[in-house]
Order: sequence, then C-alpha cells, then structure tokens
Amino acid sequence: MKVSPSLLSADFCHLADSIDMINRSQADMLHLDIMDGVFVPNISFGFPVVENLKNICNKPLDVHLMIVEPQKFINEVKAIGADIMNVHYEACIHLSRVVQQIREAGMRPGVTINPATPVCVLEDIIDQVDLVLIMSVNPGFGGQKFIENSLKKVTQLRQLIDRSGSKALIEVDGGVNEATGRKLADAGADILVAGSYVFNAPDPLERIDTLKNL
Ligand code: DX5
Ligand code: ZN
Repeated sequence: MKVSPSLLSADFCHLADSIDMINRSQADMLHLDIMDGVFVPNISFGFPVVENLKNICNKPLDVHLMIVEPQKFINEVKAIGADIMNVHYEACIHLSRVVQQIREAGMRPGVTINPATPVCVLEDIIDQVDLVLIMSVNPGFGGQKFIENSLKKVTQLRQLIDRSGSKALIEVDGGVNEATGRKLADAGADILVAGSYVFNAPDPLERIDTLKNL
C-alpha cells in the first residue's frame, strides 16, 4: 500500500520536525490540503506557508486543492513543487481542460470526488487522469469519521479503471486508520491518506508502517 500522510494534522509550530519525520518514514508522498473557506467551510494553509517545504521534503508532494476555480492556481501549485495536483470534480466546470493544463505544467493530474458525488461521473475523464482521490469524509477538517459507503465507491472505481484500461491510481482521504485502511486495501485502493491517525499518535512512524503493510 502507498501512504500519503496529511500535514493538516501536524503541529504547525514545528513543521520542519514533521517533515523530518516524513523523510525518515516509509511514506510514499506528503499530502498537502489547501482550503479557501469557500469550497469548504475551513481555511488551512496557503502557498506562502508550504513554498519552502519542497527544499526540505524528500518525498513527492501530493497537493489536494479544496478551492473554487483551482485552474487559476496551476502556476502556484507548480511553484511549490507539487508532483500531483488534485482538483475537485465539483469545483471544475471544464474539468478536461483543467486536467490538460495540469499535465502541460508538468504535474500529474488527479481528480477528487466528494462523498455525495458518484463514481459514474468519472467515466469520460478516467483515461486522462493519473489518480482519482475519493473523499471518505466531507472535506474541510481532519479527524472525522470514515463514511462506510466509500468502500463501495472504491470497488466501483476499480471496475471502471479496469474496464477502461486507465492507469489511474485510487487514493482515499478521510478517516483512514488501520481498520478502515484494511477494508480499503481489500476494496482496491492504491494510496491511503492519513492525517490524525499518523500525526496524533505517540509514534507516527509506526502508524505509517502499519498502513504501508496493509
Ligand atoms: C480533509 C482533508 C484530509 C484530512 C484527513 O478535508 O482532505 O486530507 O487531513 O484527515 P484525517 O485522516 O484525520 O481524516
Ligand atoms: Zn486531503
């Protein structure tokens, strides 16, 4: 299993220490949640806060934009060193164009769907994206309870990917822990995002190992 710890639950007074832990861990990437207070009812951190992380983080950056009109910020996301730029399906009127622009900017495009958005809306975009991020909580906050219906969506997405011949990876975000992670692994997830499960633990490295071994 690939693991993408979410910095949202880290201690913001000691971000460099959190990055150091991530560098020493088995994590495959670092998940960065950028919010605008409009698309989601919360504001996290913005580009100035994370722009220097690429210099101290030796893992790829997996950026999850919970903002309206994410196409306006493709250059900024590129400038902070993102490898993956995830935009919400619900935030993009011209999703295909946005995905194309992300790829032209040299990043891997990911499309994210909210809990109330069905997998079937991805049918005509699945062959253009490198990744689909299924939200297993309503986005905006860490530490929420996993929505069980997400398991069904992972299974449906796995079928859609296999049917279409797409190489897209399935990433799941929200309420991930050992128990929900195991179910997600069985359903066909490729990458697990975990915030509070990793960072609110006495030994975050051990939590990352647990998810890696699912
Ligand atoms: C929520 C964010 C998540 C968040 C997950 O909107 O997209 O990445 O950090 O937090 P946990 O793992 O605590 O549910
Ligand atoms: Zn996220």
